[in-house]
Formats: sequence, structure tokens, C-alpha cells
Amino acid sequence: MDALTQYLDQNRERFLDDLKAVLRIPSVSAQPGHAADVRRCAEHVAAHLRTIGITHAEVVDTKGHPVVYGEWLGAPGAPTMLLYGHYDVQPPEPLELWNTKPFEPTERDGKLYARGACDDKGQVYMHLSAMAAHFAVNGRLPVNVKLVIEGEEEVGSEHLEAFLRQWKDRLAADVIVVSDTSMLGPDQPSLCYALRGLVYTQVEVTGPARDLHSGEFGGAVMNPANALGQIIAGLKDADGRVTVKGFYDTVRPLTDLERAAMRELPFDEAGFIRESGAPGPFGENGFSTLERITARPTLDVNGMWSGYIGEGAKTVLPSFAAAKISMRLVPDQEPNAIFRAFEARVRELAQAGVTVKVIHHHGAVPFMTDPGHPMMQAAYRALARSWSKKPSLIREGGSIPVMATFQQVLGLPSILMGFGLHDDQVHAPNEKYSLTSFHGGTKSCAYLYEELARA
Ligand code: BES
Ligand code: ZN
Repeated sequence: MDALTQYLDQNRERFLDDLKAVLRIPSVSAQPGHAADVRRCAEHVAAHLRTIGITHAEVVDTKGHPVVYGEWLGAPGAPTMLLYGHYDVQPPEPLELWNTKPFEPTERDGKLYARGACDDKGQVYMHLSAMAAHFAVNGRLPVNVKLVIEGEEEVGSEHLEAFLRQWKDRLAADVIVVSDTSMLGPDQPSLCYALRGLVYTQVEVTGPARDLHSGEFGGAVMNPANALGQIIAGLKDADGRVTVKGFYDTVRPLTDLERAAMRELPFDEAGFIRESGAPGPFGENGFSTLERITARPTLDVNGMWSGYIGEGAKTVLPSFAAAKISMRLVPDQEPNAIFRAFEARVRELAQAGVTVKVIHHHGAVPFMTDPGHPMMQAAYRALARSWSKKPSLIREGGSIPVMATFQQVLGLPSILMGFGLHDDQVHAPNEKYSLTSFHGGTKSCAYLYEELARA
């Protein structure tokens, strides 16, 4: 066994302790009450970078939450990788559904439970552990490294684009590396080459000026909750197709080759649906579950509220109803054009007697990269070496808003090498990260730097 691999195996507990330390900081980017914790987390990550051997690390202020920037440029002549990740996390609520506290990381059955354990602190810390190992064993890294660890990914990376544009020259690199995606199964390493985009909206429907007695007024005026129900029902047809005009016009169809390759992937469709707890699969006709969640666009209500939702019955005709509705997009759908078409469709579906407001919260451009790129091939070799298994090439359904920006602003190839599992409960109570993913992923990262130096 080589010295690097041996070091990685011998220091597993320490690497896990480093991860636990950052997981104890509640860096919830969406909640203003946690702004100080978000900053404290950025300072903590920057300090940790210095400890492991990254010579330059700073916390950079933005108009939103700070960015952690680090660099180590001690490998002249070797390629430079730009590692991107996020230290912010999703809100932990509802708290009562957690078996152990979200910000008190706890090990159970070979898994580490905490908010951010997988998404994305666990995956960022695989890289920091891999770098620590290289520094400890060789005194250096095989490649030059720049790090951008941001604090607003979970709220749409609103201020990151300005940072990237402003720091464009300083961020010059040969490849972007990101670990914030999943693998097909616990022992099936996967390289991701496409992500979906997003349009996140809010639809607000107002009827009467105040809540009304539903006996006195029911039947005489339009009920905004009823009207909202009608709007939502009209946004998709019985076959699961979105009815927004032109929605599918720019969707890049799956090629026969791609569909065939997807069918060959070791994806456990029945297990995936079973694990979700849903009674069965449902989606757009003519597509497999894997195609539906990665290569097809979709529309979902994320939340809705109106009227009386307390205990018992209250006869009331509400004055207001609202829903948060998001659309996952695929290449080559354009978020702003889709939003405009969505708004027009909502207005078309709204019945007379209510006023409708459609808000655009944030968006993400869909992302796709060439899996045949030499940098991707380097990642492929690193995964094959660390898992002793042929990696799968996959598309994924989630979004990382900055990926398209990296492509546009910096014009660089990207490696999405992630180790999450479908039962990690990211964004939900009891988020966890499997220790097999954490330790196996750390090894993959350590080997990746060696392979990139050869690419
Ligand atoms: N790590 C996820 C993205 C992801 C999820 C990639 C699943 C592949 C599979 C990321 O942290 C995330 O949740 N992103 C948000 C972005 C949104 C807030 C703009 C998402 O996809 O909802
Ligand atoms: Zn996330």
C-alpha cells in the first residue's frame, strides 16, 4: 500500500472529527437569525484551511453571506483546479422529526447524522481531508488548488456571480471540481455530467378584502383558495405534462444512445420509489423514472397556504391563498423565458373575481458538460482506482446554480464527483452521510488530484 493510502486509512477518525466540528455550526443561510452563525462557519472553514496547509485563506464579504477563498499554488507547471462547494445548509425544521439534534452530529450504524452531513459540509470536508493527507505525506499537493466555498448555495447563490466576475483573474484555473451530487448506490461510484436548472415562483391569489363568513358570502364571490386550486390543477395534464405554453420547445431530446446508456445503469428503480415512501411511481408518460428525474423538466408545488388550518372546523371564506411552485429545467430551457410563459399561463388559468400576483424567487440555468473531456477521464480513473469498480456516468435532477455561471464566466470544464445516496434525507429531517461515502470519497479526492496532474 502506498504511503498516501495508508495515511488516509490511519487518520479516518481525525477527519471525521474535523467534519463534526463544522457540523456543530448552524450555518442556515435562509434564516436571518443565523447570519452570525453563517459568518462564524466561514471563519471556521478558513481557519481549517490554514491548519491543513493551504497557505492563503480568507473570508470575503459579499452583499450576502461571505465566501471562503483559499489558494495553494506550490506546484508550478501542474494544472490548477478550482474546488467549489458550500458551507451553508438548509433549515433543519421540523425539529421534532429529528431522532438526534441537527447540529449535534451523531454516529449510528455507520452513518453520521446532522444537517449538512452530506449536503455539503461532508462532501467539502472529503476534499479538505484529502488535501490534509497529501500535505502530511508529501508536503505538497500534486496540483495547484484554489477554493471557493460559498455560503448562499441553498438560497440560490444570488451574490456569487458578482464575486466570480470580480475575481475572474484571480480564479483562473484549468478545471472546476465539485462534490455536491450523488452516487447510484453505496458501492457504485458515479460521475455526473448534467444537472437540472430551476425556476422558483410564488403565486398569490387575493379575493375579498377580508375573511368572510362562508355562509353569508359563500357562493356570491370567488374564493381565492378555490381559484388557486384551479390554477394548480391546470398547470399539468393527466399525463403529467406541464401545460405552460412552449415549455417543451427547447428541451433537448434524449438521443437513442443516451436512453440505451441510461437503461444500462445499475439504478434500482423499485428501491428508489420504495425508499421515498410513495405508494408508487408517477410521472410523464413514456419515460422511465431515471429519465423523469434527470433528463425531463417538471413542475411541483413546494408549499401552499390559505384560510383556516387550525384544529376543528371554522366556516370561513379566506381572502388570500398562495403557493410556492417550482419548475426543474433541462438543457436548453432558459429560466427567464420559462418564468414569463409560466406567468402568462397562471393568469390564463385564473378565474374572474380574484387578483393574481406571480413572484419570481430565483432560478438556475441547466448544466451539461462533455463526459469525454480529459479532465473527466482523470476523475473516472480516480473513482475506478478508489472503488475498484467501473464508475457510472449519470445525469442528476438537482441544481447547482453556479455551474452554468462557471461555464459562462470562466469557460472551464467541470468535474461533478459526488458521493451522496438517495436515502441521505438531504433537505429533510435526519440528514445523514454514510461513512463509506465519506471515507471512500476522501480517497477518491486524494487520487483525483494525482490523476489531474497527469491529465
Ligand atoms: N447538493 C444539491 C444539488 C443536488 C441535489 C445535486 C441532488 C444533485 C442531486 C444542492 O445543494 C441543492 O440542494 N441545490 C438546490 C439549489 C436551489 C436552491 C437553487 C436545489 O437543487 O434545490
Ligand atoms: Zn442542498
